Amino acid sequence: MKSGERMRRLRDDTTAQGVSVDDVRGLVVARNLAFGQDTQQAVARHAWNHMFGAGPLQGLLEDPLVTDILVNGHQVWVDRGQGLVDAGLSLESPRAARELAVQLATRAGARLDDAHPVVDAQLPDGSRLHAVIEPISPTPATISLRAFRARHLSLRDLVQWDMIPAQWVSVFTALVEHRVNLLISGGTGTGKTTLLSTLLGHVPHTERIITIEDSREIATTHPHVVALQSRAANAEGAGAVDLTELVRNALRMRPDRVMLGECRGAEIRDLLMAFNTGHSGGAATLHANSAHDVPARLIALGALAGMDPQTTVLQVASALDVIVHITRPPHGRRYISDISALTCSDSGHLVVQPLLTWDGVSVPRRHDVSVVPAWLA
Ligand SMILES: Nc1ncnc2c1ncn2[C@@H]1O[C@H](COP(=O)(O)OP(=O)(O)O)[C@@H](O)[C@H]1O
Ligand SMILES: [Mg+2]
Repeated sequence: MKSGERMRRLRDDTTAQGVSVDDVRGLVVARNLAFGQDTQQAVARHAWNHMFGAGPLQGLLEDPLVTDILVNGHQVWVDRGQGLVDAGLSLESPRAARELAVQLATRAGARLDDAHPVVDAQLPDGSRLHAVIEPISPTPATISLRAFRARHLSLRDLVQWDMIPAQWVSVFTALVEHRVNLLISGGTGTGKTTLLSTLLGHVPHTERIITIEDSREIATTHPHVVALQSRAANAEGAGAVDLTELVRNALRMRPDRVMLGECRGAEIRDLLMAFNTGHSGGAATLHANSAHDVPARLIALGALAGMDPQTTVLQVASALDVIVHITRPPHGRRYISDISALTCSDSGHLVVQPLLTWDGVSVPRRHDVSVVPAWLA
């Protein structure tokens, strides 16, 4: 039997969601589609990858080290935490990349066609799909996949990864315990969401956490988490629910802590208001290249929400207590380089005052400050 015919017969039988490779294997055996255990397994795996997974990219997506998979034309690149390398496989043709992009978008419940040539959506396994097709893309399709790792990390794991020095485990647990409002800053893919997820695992299990994200990336072992996710408008331009609306709604859901996956727009206004009206112990991540860039970034975001710089400074100074900055040198290991206090100077400027710093190698440094915050005492 040709593989196309095999696939068609399988597809007729497996329209339901949540089908495992074993289910498909059961069908392969029951319908005599292949003989010999190894062949049956290989056929089932191949069929599952193409019908329910990411096709030829599924193997990479399941590799625990892989964080990103990028397809340009038919070339495939992969990041296993050390920067991009050739994935060692290529799609049949640039056309095949377009077909794959369309299939993945459908699987994510989104559209990708001439009328909607860009898609940003989430695959059933939680991975994030971004794809563009011609003529926006220079080749029939350009695909970017960010793997979702449903791994539950502890601060000890981050020490093992050399992301934080062992001396800081107690610092982070104190930050959580003292309900300090945190801003986690860093470049793209430095591990901001990973750190946020890890910290959530240290929140007492009696507390109710509400997380707000554009696409679900926060993974935690905490038993009481409500993960809200924004939604883009549908093809008719209706039904959008943005982060601002979600932050407002979260406050009506009796949260003990509100966590914003990534702050990148006007939702900053509502977040600052929430933190200033008794919602402590919250956190947000922010894209910034250094801790010292954070004030300017916050003022720029405030402007998107119609706030003048002075208002933003005052709101930020009372809402946010600490900045945790993650550094990733080019081609290097990610590590937390600064834990700083965020305050307002007498002249009305935001001041980032380093409290603890680390170069990623030596013993971390504790800076002398006139007022030692309670969580550091
Ligand atoms: N210290 C680390 N070492 C290796 N990989 C990491 C580390 N921190 C995060 N990652 C991985 O890098 C990817 C990006 O991390 P993420 O937390 O989503 O970054 P950000 O939120 O800063 O964009 C994830 O797949 C994550 O598992
Ligand atoms: Mg993130």
